[in-house]
Amino acid sequence: MYDFDMTIDRSDSDSHKWQKYRGKDIIPMWVADMDFASPPEVTEALHKRVAHGVFGYGHPDPQLREAIIAHLKNRFAWPVEPEWIVWLPGLVTGLNVACRSVGRPGAGVLTMVPIYPPFLLAPEYAGKQLQTTQMVYTNKRWRFDPDELRRCIGERTALFMLCNPHNPTGRVFTREELEGLAETCLRAGLVVCSDEIHCDLVLQPGCAHIPMASISPQIAQRTITLMAPTKTFNLPGLGCAFAVISNPRLRLRFKRAMAGIVPHLNVLGFTAAQAAYQYGQTWLNELLDYLRTNRDMLQSTIRSMGKLSMGAVEATYLAWIDTRETGITDPIHFFEQGGVGLSNGTDFGAPGFVRLNFGCTRSLLSTALHRMERTLSVL
Ligand SMILES: Cc1ncc(COP(=O)(O)O)c(C=O)c1O
Repeated sequence: MYDFDMTIDRSDSDSHKWQKYRGKDIIPMWVADMDFASPPEVTEALHKRVAHGVFGYGHPDPQLREAIIAHLKNRFAWPVEPEWIVWLPGLVTGLNVACRSVGRPGAGVLTMVPIYPPFLLAPEYAGKQLQTTQMVYTNKRWRFDPDELRRCIGERTALFMLCNPHNPTGRVFTREELEGLAETCLRAGLVVCSDEIHCDLVLQPGCAHIPMASISPQIAQRTITLMAPTKTFNLPGLGCAFAVISNPRLRLRFKRAMAGIVPHLNVLGFTAAQAAYQYGQTWLNELLDYLRTNRDMLQSTIRSMGKLSMGAVEATYLAWIDTRETGITDPIHFFEQGGVGLSNGTDFGAPGFVRLNFGCTRSLLSTALHRMERTLSVL
C-alpha cells in the first residue's frame, strides 16, 4: 500500500541529516532518522490540526494514552496503566532526567559499551559517575558477559542504563539475557532505565522485543522505561516521547527532576503520535518488510567486501560495522572521501567502528554500498 521506494528530496530541507553534507556529493547515512515520509494518516491528522490555526499549550487527548496502551498490549503483551505514562519531549531528555532522579551526588551509573552517545554523557551532566562494561563480539554476535557486568557494579552504583533493542549493535536481548540482567540489578539494588525507543523495529524472524519491566513485578517496580513513536513512524523532528514508570515513588522522583526544566510537549507531537499509534500499524508492518530487505542486501554486500565485518542486525535500521581489519585510521574521513557519511564509532565508545543508517530507499542504499566498495578497493 505504501511506496518506500519513492525518493523525497531532503537535500534542501531543514533536515539535520542532510544539511551536514549540503552541497557535497556525500550520501548522509549517519543520524538516526529515515528518509521515508511518515504514514499518510499522520500527515492528514497534522493538516487538520494546523488548519485549526490556534496553537496554545497542549494537553494530550485521552485517546492518545489509550492508543499507546493498546499498542504496548498488542505488540508486547505488556499491560500498562494510564497514570504510569509521563510525557517527555524526547528520549534523551528521559535519559538525563533518569540520571538526575536516581542516586546521590557522585553515584555510579552503569551502561554497556558500545552505546548511543548520550548514555555516556548523561551521568556526568547529572553529577554522577559513568561506569561501563564492554560488550563482547564473537562469531558475528554481540552480547554482554553477565559475570563481567556483575563485577562492574560497585558500592556506589545506583542506576543501570539499558538500551534494548540495542543501538548501535542491533541486538534484541533474549528473555534469558533480560532475566539474568534483572536478577543482577535486583540483587545490587539498582534502578534500571531502559531505553526501548527501537522496540517496534524488530527485523529478525524469531526475535521479539520484551520490555524489561515485563520480566517480573519486582523489576517493574525498579524500572523507568523510555519509549516514543518517533523512530517507529519517523517523527523525531516533532519531539514526542514518554516514560512508563509503574512505581509511584520512582515516578514522583522522576517528575520532580523534570520540574521547571522539561517543557510541555508541542501540540503537533501529540497529534502525530496519536494518529501514528491509531492508524499506522499497516504502514509499520510494510516498513519492517522494506527495512528487512535493505538489511539483507546490506549485510551480504558488507560481508562480501571481505575487509569489513558486522553482526546480525536483529532490530533498528542501523548497522554497526567493524573496520579495524582494514587498517584505516580515520574511517569517517575515509568513507566521506568516497562519498558516504557515517556515524563515528568513537562517539559510541568504540573507535574503529562506524554506524550506517539504512532507513532510506533501496536505490540510495545501493549507491552508497557501491561507493563504499569502490573506496575500499583502493586499499
Ligand atoms: C537509543 C536511542 N535513544 C534515544 C534516541 C533519541 O531520542 P530523542 O530524539 O527522542 O531524544 C535515539 C536516536 O537515535 C536512540 O537511538
